[in-house]
Amino acid sequence: MTQSIPFHKAHITEDEINEVVDTLRSGWLTMGPKTIAFENAFGECVGSKQSVSLNSATAALHLALKAIGLKEGDEVILPTNTFVSTAEVVTYFNAIPVLCDIEYETHNMDVSKIEALITKNTKAIIPVHFAGNPCDMDPILEIAAKYKLHVIEDAAHAVPAKYKGRAVGSIGDMTCFSFYATKTLATGEGGMLTTNNEEWAKSVRINRLHGISKDAWDRYTAKGAWHYEVVENGHKYNMTDIAASLGLVQLKKIDWMREERAKIVAKYDELLQSLNPISVPEGHESAHHLYVIKINNRDAAIERLKEAGVGSSVHFIPIHHHPYYKKRYGYKASDYPVAEAVFNQSLSLPLYPGLSTESIDRIIKQVQNIADPVR
Ligand SMILES: Cc1ncc(COP(=O)(O)O)c(C=O)c1O
Repeated sequence: MTQSIPFHKAHITEDEINEVVDTLRSGWLTMGPKTIAFENAFGECVGSKQSVSLNSATAALHLALKAIGLKEGDEVILPTNTFVSTAEVVTYFNAIPVLCDIEYETHNMDVSKIEALITKNTKAIIPVHFAGNPCDMDPILEIAAKYKLHVIEDAAHAVPAKYKGRAVGSIGDMTCFSFYATKTLATGEGGMLTTNNEEWAKSVRINRLHGISKDAWDRYTAKGAWHYEVVENGHKYNMTDIAASLGLVQLKKIDWMREERAKIVAKYDELLQSLNPISVPEGHESAHHLYVIKINNRDAAIERLKEAGVGSSVHFIPIHHHPYYKKRYGYKASDYPVAEAVFNQSLSLPLYPGLSTESIDRIIKQVQNIADPVR
């Protein structure tokens, strides 16, 4: 019997295992020297002055919105084609997620539709770099400057990625990364916020640990003291040294892992071009987190691929489809015609380092047999 090909498998080697064991042997399990080393190395990698580690991208997005002082009734523009986190964090403030339609080719937010969504209550735009391909940031930044809006990037898929030579993480006001188990850098759960703004970084650092003015690391080590003060109503969002151990090792091979995914993308692109794969425009360097095709028989294809032992997935069920959001904000599918078409047709295929040539060939063959192309 042929082996199943999972939709995703993290690239974990003896190096990650040894680094975690080293942390366990050190006796310091939570945020400490490895977390700080990981923050510094990550900041260097994306070229940002400040990088603050967290336990998820959701936490990073939440604290970014807190840092800009988002309030009840404010509006934040974001694409409907995203994971729920991007909208969820806006609701934490009783603010309003204003959904933007997307482009058919890239599945990124359609920049030409942003300006019509801006009102006197708009405070920020959250572009989501879908599948690791950066959004068209120059016009987004221009619109933001014109209307005095903040740009907080959801880069959950986008390390390492570049837009016109600039690394994602050094472009907008703040950038939020995810190190969830399936992401391009995996720590199990984890996130990072990067920014060049010291005030915002300070706000995020304080808010990630209960609003306490000092980190546990400072408090419990020899250089620390028992005294601390709570200066904000904060959260418990810090990273641990166990997760950072994985991050430190994964970061060292981040470019190699991207190259491995890029090779798979090139092969898929060559043989699945008739199935509308997402495209990466000139000047964009995608992290290649997801490989998404668009076909007529998406639901049936998932079932048939499953029967053939090939894992697949759908990214994403749009925000305006989720009952909670539909009920609370009254979104109408007819306002997002492109996202509707994309959602009905999208199928994500396995894409990760370690996927063997035989597996790739098998996936391509099965998909070619099963898929009904959009004509
Ligand atoms: C686009 C997007 N934003 C945010 C998140 C949330 O990331 P995390 O699980 O690290 O909170 C995800 C995770 O799947 C995502 O895909």
